[in-house]
Amino acid sequence: MSKPTYKNALKNPVFNTVSKAADALSLDAYVIGGFVRDYLLKRGDAKDIDIVAVGSGIELAKEVSKNLSHKPKVAIFKTYGTAALKTAGVELEFVGARKESYTKDSRNPKVENGTLQDDQNRRDFTINALALSLNEDTFGELLDPFDGVKDLDDKIIRTPLNPDITYSDDPLRMMRAIRFATQLNFTIEKESLDAITRNAERIKIITNERIVDELHKILASPVPSIGFALMHKTNLLPHIMPELLALQGIDEKEGQRHKDNFWHTLEVVDNIALTTDNVWLRWAALLHDIGKAPTKRFDKKVGWTFHAHEFVGSKMVYKLFKRLKMPLNDKMKFVQKMVLMSSRPIVLASDVTDSAVRRLIFDAGEYVEDLMTLCEADITTKNPKKFKRYHNNFKLVRDKIVEVEERDQVRNFQPPVTGEEIMKTFNLKPSREIGIIKDAIKEAILEGDISNDYEEAKALMLKKGKELGLSIN
Ligand code: CTP
Repeated sequence: MSKPTYKNALKNPVFNTVSKAADALSLDAYVIGGFVRDYLLKRGDAKDIDIVAVGSGIELAKEVSKNLSHKPKVAIFKTYGTAALKTAGVELEFVGARKESYTKDSRNPKVENGTLQDDQNRRDFTINALALSLNEDTFGELLDPFDGVKDLDDKIIRTPLNPDITYSDDPLRMMRAIRFATQLNFTIEKESLDAITRNAERIKIITNERIVDELHKILASPVPSIGFALMHKTNLLPHIMPELLALQGIDEKEGQRHKDNFWHTLEVVDNIALTTDNVWLRWAALLHDIGKAPTKRFDKKVGWTFHAHEFVGSKMVYKLFKRLKMPLNDKMKFVQKMVLMSSRPIVLASDVTDSAVRRLIFDAGEYVEDLMTLCEADITTKNPKKFKRYHNNFKLVRDKIVEVEERDQVRNFQPPVTGEEIMKTFNLKPSREIGIIKDAIKEAILEGDISNDYEEAKALMLKKGKELGLSIN
């Protein structure tokens, strides 16, 4: 039977260049993996193209470069036997077909040369083992030894070999399985899911950076909870984010229960995924309640409390980012700020005064809309009346933010009277009086006692100076 052919997938002229180079070197070459998968899923043309050569991938890369008019530089990774080059907006990675076996404690495989089938065997999933031939006489032919196309149709994640071997060889694949299931809305086949559960502990040998890459991709998916629920089900979560797992469970005392903050959090993440693509805001949603586990108390009078969980949670954000080797930069600070302020608009919603809104804008600065988005996503009540009421309240807060912002412009607050002017006016050297006066002006503006205006601020400065016993220069 003749093989199905997908010449249309190979319209990019670079494939002809690879084809000619492979024929010139008398070796077989194939495009494999994500490019083929995404073409068949109509996810658009992937920019990373993996080429496998039955022979030397490095030699093929050099020959391809020679045949391209701009002779792109070939980056060679000798230890891995791979080579890469960039051309016309795509990145080609070349590898020789390999037969690999892994040792128990390391991700570094023992590698030997192999056939295409050997190479396909050692790939993670049937849907990632699809290969299209690039040699001229078989150009576009699909090689699909594990029925990957059927799995694409059936939306199934399955490993080519026994899943215990595939996952144990490279435990990152457990996260990849969950990530693909989340991104593509596929189901992980039962044997595979069981194998992940059995091998979950081996995720420990994977670097945090690679795990975080997968977490980012899960969070960037349309319904991120799919991934976190799978991490929970397979027991990967305790190895990756124990703080999140600690939110699971409902306690009852004297007839009082609190909600399950783990499943609530996942709902919040799904909600926010509907309204923002900002992955850091999605991280904030994921972590907004993590302070609730260590702060949970039962009080006979008021029931369950999570006193200062926002503050505790924001400190935990730092520790978690540090442990996972995530950047400790402005992105982390943003997540911390969102967690720290996550209850502010809620308190406000019941009594929307100008001064409270001014303080909210002042503290949240340029992120005030993000904070409102987080709070709206936090509404997970199943009571339709409450749902509507909470949303309406936040709508009022949002309207008020616009109104106050237009009038007072406190978002990127700059003191209307500078420290320098205070020093000049009262002939002061740097001293605590300057801070006192500046603070009084800021407070008066936020309270609405004076407007954010130079003349009014100057008048207050003079009044405060007098109270402090300062004389005018
Ligand atoms: N692969 C694998 N095991 C891994 C990583 C990758 O077997 N742990 C194989 C798969 O065949 C995969 C190919 O290498 O298709 C390329 O990997 P990569 O570029 O990381 O992923 P893609 O499948 O291209 O998908 P994405 O770009 O979405 O990560």
